[in-house]
Amino acid sequence: MELIINTPEEMFELWKKMAKDHKTILLKWDLWAGKTLFTKGFAKWLEIDENSVQSPTYTYLNSYDNKLLHIDMYRLENENEVWEKWINDQISQYDYITIERPKFIELLDIYEYTVVNIEKKWETRIVRIENQQ
Ligand SMILES: Nc1ncnc2c1ncn2[C@@H]1O[C@H](COP(=O)(O)OP(=O)(O)OP(=O)(O)O)[C@@H](O)[C@H]1O
Ligand SMILES: [Mg+2]
Repeated sequence: MELIINTPEEMFELWKKMAKDHKTILLKWDLWAGKTLFTKGFAKWLEIDENSVQSPTYTYLNSYDNKLLHIDMYRLENENEVWEKWINDQISQYDYITIERPKFIELLDIYEYTVVNIEKKWETRIVRIENQQ
C-alpha cells in the first residue's frame, strides 16, 4: 500500500488507515520523516498519552504504560549492542513494538512485522506499507 501524507496531522492519524492487526512495526528511512510522530498516533490508539512518547534516539528504548515498547536503533553500532542493551529481553515483554531505523533484525526476536517506509520530499511524506512474515 502506498500513501501520500501531506501534513503532520495525517501522519499522526496514519495508524487509522492500517489494518488493526499490526503489533510490531518497523519504521524505516528518512531523518525527520515522522517515525516518532507515527508512534505517537499508534500510542494514542493504545490509550497511551501521546505526549509521553518521546524520541528514543538517545535512550535507544522507551516504554509507555507497560503496553508499548519504542526503540530507535540509529545509534546502535554493532551486533553486540543488541545483547548489551537487552533488546530481545525487552521485546519479549511487550505486545506492541515500534522500531525506528531497524538494524540487525535477523538477531531480533520478531517474526511477524509490518514495515512502514517513510520517504521525505519537502513537506510531503511518501509512505509504503509492507507486511512481512
Ligand atoms: N507531512 C508530514 N508528515 C509527517 N511529519 C511532518 C510532515 N510535515 C512536517 N512534518 C514534521 O516533521 C517532523 C517529524 O519528526 P519526527 O520526530 O516524528 O521524525 P523522525 O522520523 O522520528 O525523526 P528522526 O529521524 O530524528 O528519528 C515533525 O516535527 C512534523 O511536524
Ligand atoms: Mg524519531
